[in-house]
Amino acid sequence: MKNSIGLDSQKSKEIAEMLNDLLANYQMFYQNLRGFHWNIKGKEFFELHLKFEELYDDAVIKVDEIAERILTLQAVPLHTFEDYLATAEISSFKKDQVGSEVVKIVIDNFSTLINKERAILAKAADADDEGTASQMSDYITETEKTLWMLHSYMG
Ligand SMILES: [Fe+2]
Repeated sequence: MKNSIGLDSQKSKEIAEMLNDLLANYQMFYQNLRGFHWNIKGKEFFELHLKFEELYDDAVIKVDEIAERILTLQAVPLHTFEDYLATAEISSFKKDQVGSEVVKIVIDNFSTLINKERAILAKAADADDEGTASQMSDYITETEKTLWMLHSYMG
């Protein structure tokens, strides 16, 4: 059966579930970035404080886009902290850390996100869901470039 945007209803439901998982992970990542922005210590404070702000500004845009794609697919985006904690694979970080340790965590979080985006892309392609596929494709391209830069920063 097709839904109102012309996609297979069951496949859209499954894609929306994967997007909700991505959303939960992005929200955890967003909050990690805020924590790093606030609590970063060490000689790289000024550059990383600014870099993490840039990254969380980007993450919050993606959070909204993912939630609205879920609604477009006629599902309901997760919105509570309880749901995010119960769903996300990315965990929260609580202690103060110095520059390079934090960048490693950011790289690790981005790796988790990009793997999820690749899986959603494959699923969306199978469902002829071009909207979700192109959104994931853009995220993957951007995240690959960010990962290159973060790895270069690490030397
Ligand atoms: Fe700030």
